[in-house]
Amino acid sequence: MEAQTWAACAAACLIPLALLLLTNHLRRPKLNLPPGPKPWPVIGNFNLIGPLPHHSIHELSEKYGPIMTLKFGSIPVIIGSTAQMATNFLKNNDEIFAGRPKTAAGKYTTYNYSNMTWSDYGPYFRQARKLWSMHLFSAKRLESYEYIRVEELNLVLRDIFNTNGEKITLKDHLSNFSLNVISRVVLGKRYLDKGNDNDNDNDNDNEHQGKKIVTSKEFKLMLDELFILNGVLNLGDWIPCLKYLDIQGYVKRMKKVAKKFDRFMENVLDEHNARRAKEKDKWVPKDMVDVLLQYANDPNHEVKIERDGVKAFTQDLIAGGTDTSTIAIEWAITELIRKPEIIAKATEELDHVIGKERWIQEGDIQNLPYIRNIVKETFRLHPVTPLLVPRLSKEQVKVEGYDIPKGSVVLVNTFTIHRDPNLYEKPQEFCPSRFIEKENKEVKSQEFEHLPFGSGRRKCPGYNLGLKIIELCLANLLHGFEWKLPDNIKPDDLDMEEIFSLANSKKIPLIVCAHPRLPRHMYST
Ligand code: HEM
Repeated sequence: MEAQTWAACAAACLIPLALLLLTNHLRRPKLNLPPGPKPWPVIGNFNLIGPLPHHSIHELSEKYGPIMTLKFGSIPVIIGSTAQMATNFLKNNDEIFAGRPKTAAGKYTTYNYSNMTWSDYGPYFRQARKLWSMHLFSAKRLESYEYIRVEELNLVLRDIFNTNGEKITLKDHLSNFSLNVISRVVLGKRYLDKGNDNDNDNDNDNEHQGKKIVTSKEFKLMLDELFILNGVLNLGDWIPCLKYLDIQGYVKRMKKVAKKFDRFMENVLDEHNARRAKEKDKWVPKDMVDVLLQYANDPNHEVKIERDGVKAFTQDLIAGGTDTSTIAIEWAITELIRKPEIIAKATEELDHVIGKERWIQEGDIQNLPYIRNIVKETFRLHPVTPLLVPRLSKEQVKVEGYDIPKGSVVLVNTFTIHRDPNLYEKPQEFCPSRFIEKENKEVKSQEFEHLPFGSGRRKCPGYNLGLKIIELCLANLLHGFEWKLPDNIKPDDLDMEEIFSLANSKKIPLIVCAHPRLPRHMYST
């Protein structure tokens, strides 16, 4: 056929097709999207997002209101910034928004979305959630690990006492403590090699001593990297044409850290399976990995949890349980050092309820309302995940008259909700007694005004353990020590900058001096 005839045929086919598409487009009812800034082609509104996305989004929400649309690349991102909007997303339409977007982080760092955090809302997720709440985080199981929290706390208090009032990087002590607690609860022992870290590993399990494969310093770096990479705005997730280019280099880093974790996890699982094979009928589950493996080997479950699933959940448990509590306690002590009158009130409560001849136990916490409110206030001003973890809408739905298209990413902006002047007087001020005043005035708390752990189907499954660790540790740090700044630094000069990752931590670690405030003999227990 000649060239003109080809062209005529192509035109005859293509013109009706184009007309059809155009008519369909024009006929489609126009969506009433929530307001937002005009997006650029290709990049959308990425130009408006700075290195601290929750701050950029906070400012944008002041301009566009309680519900707004941004475009990240080609994907609509709907942001709810009031308690009312959080109720719409996390309660009224919870199931529709219970999915998670498919990010490169979920694919490469969590065994192809096999963990809890990035798995889609479906049978696998629901089965896993049941397993977590009934077997890993039941009240009975958490109670059975109380002795571990107490032993590790005693060690950290003694370590801090031994610093003799010299300056310390508080975060190092806190992360040793939380990593050791989680490691013993999840993996059954402190799995990490002493290396040069001086982390007092005293488990006597000689059989396993030779197999430690990573130092705690290396492991903490791995965890930091995991948190950063799970929180980054990876352009390839949002701009399809960049997916395979990895122009920021994040995917390369994800693959690298995943490989390191996998080596560690393989070792953990092999050791646990070996103990089970050796002990045969006498075997009983000792730690969370044992529980996960027992569940995975049970043929009676409809949805199978494979070896990758066990590794992914184990990683979830370690990552979820360590950085989060370290970050929260570091923020709490930082805020308190800036407000000596709050420390005075807290220690008055501790001296009155506990006295100076014993440490605080978990059962005491309910009798320490001021300490509990310090934790609440810390979560309010420094939410660990200020935009929660992104959700995905599985169908188109109307929220407060606006259309939320299927496939939109939904962010619940707790950073702004927690600073809403309609909910909190002088919202920028750190003031734990605001919660007591609220209770006294019998002001009925508006639901969803305080969301440190999220809510609904994707609410943090580890909140009970996280709270226990934070409240117990903070109460004892305040009971045991007076906290001073070194080198004549004034409290007002303390750096309060943040760094954004999956968890919102202090950019510059807090350096402090701890002076004992209890009789000396208390620190040798
Ligand atoms: C200070 C302590 C903690 C804080 C502030 C915290 C906060 C959160 C938040 C805000 C979410 C997102 C909820 C949502 O999307 O609506 C979350 C999810 C999650 N947290 Fe925590 N968390 C803490 C401790 C823990 C602990 C101790 C664990 C486990 C040992 C854990 C494991 C998880 C997991 C697996 C998810 C994902 C849940 C899902 O996608 O369904 N967290 N956490």
